[in-house]
Amino acid sequence: MTKRIALIQLGLGGVGRALVRHILAQRSHHTQRLGLSLQYIALADRDGIVINRDGLSDERLTEIVAAKAQGARLRALPQGRPWDGSPEILEDLFEPNAIVVEVTATEATVPVLRAACARGLGIVLANKLPLAGPYELFRELTANPRTRFETTVGAALPIIVTIQSFLLDTGDTIQKIRGCLSGTLNMICQRLEQGQKFSEIVRDARARGHTEPDPREDLSGRDAARKALILARLLGYPLEFEDVSRESLYPPEWDTLSIEDFLVRLSEHDARWAELSRDVQARGERLRYVVEVTEGRCQARLERLKSDDELVRPGVADSVVAVQTARYRESSLIIRGKGSGPELTASGVLADILILAR
Ligand SMILES: NC(=O)c1ccc[n+]([C@@H]2O[C@H](COP(=O)([O-])OP(=O)(O)OC[C@H]3O[C@@H](n4cnc5c(N)ncnc54)[C@H](OP(=O)(O)O)[C@@H]3O)[C@@H](O)[C@H]2O)c1
Repeated sequence: MTKRIALIQLGLGGVGRALVRHILAQRSHHTQRLGLSLQYIALADRDGIVINRDGLSDERLTEIVAAKAQGARLRALPQGRPWDGSPEILEDLFEPNAIVVEVTATEATVPVLRAACARGLGIVLANKLPLAGPYELFRELTANPRTRFETTVGAALPIIVTIQSFLLDTGDTIQKIRGCLSGTLNMICQRLEQGQKFSEIVRDARARGHTEPDPREDLSGRDAARKALILARLLGYPLEFEDVSRESLYPPEWDTLSIEDFLVRLSEHDARWAELSRDVQARGERLRYVVEVTEGRCQARLERLKSDDELVRPGVADSVVAVQTARYRESSLIIRGKGSGPELTASGVLADILILAR
């Protein structure tokens, strides 16, 4: 007997489209291995929605994903209609086996998430923002035992499940979490080591889509700090975003510049970055942007690491987390690997969906 799982997905950007493709490509695998049939009953973007209670056909899903990749709006597609983000239209679709999949980059989905939580539905988030907002909202969303958010920290790397299920639930005590969790900042540090200019690295990374459209999201440390905050909250610390001590890689007055002016002004600091990078290398150290959670404190900052530090491995622009616990005291538990990219993130979201579905 195949069990139907109804999916309501918010967001059809890079991650959302990759997720639909993964699900379509693995249909027979899910049926044979898990006895599951994942059926999309609603797909939404920022101002439109497509609904089919019986499940959108694979042909229709393929057309929608292709149209979204070309910049279409769901409201303008066949069966599409305008949607203002209010939960009422979705509440009719909230069947017991439904899972709400949140792969947007906005806080505008919070009313839907709260409504789904109130009904005890499955919720899977790749979007950090609702969980890094007010602590009370984090508590509300995570009090639902069917809320999963593995990909909000380190994409598909199993960081949250390890901390939650293997360490905290089993009674281990976590003393410290350290990690390099910004793929963008890791890459910048590594290219500085290769002697490249700071401003050119940032401009090139942005042109290739490796930074947020506004690279200040990454360079301010805000993105890394949100991940640190989610980890700190997981450990039970009721911190707010303002409690995270955060080092920005540019002066605060540049926050008011246009993106174009900001990218131009970056060159003013090239000499300082080159000097820092030379000095770090002369001492045999490595420059990394490190987040740390320990004893109720949470910080995100640039650090000079010894070359044998557990967070350093030469030549690979990956993410890494080291968890020091009562059981892993002598040598930290380390989770390392590629921690970004829409395809990997989609596979992590799918893993969360399948865990709930089972
Ligand atoms: N890419 C990665 O490596 C990675 C890794 C881990 C986590 N994540 C997280 O995954 C999330 C998705 O990333 P992405 O790269 O796919 O983002 P994206 O390309 O910017 O796509 C965001 C999608 O959300 C839709 N959206 C915006 N507001 C909405 C609303 N109120 N209701 C429903 N949909 C709405 C957008 O609609 P339109 O199409 O109408 O604009 C768009 O389809 C982000 O939160 C990101 O931080 C990404």
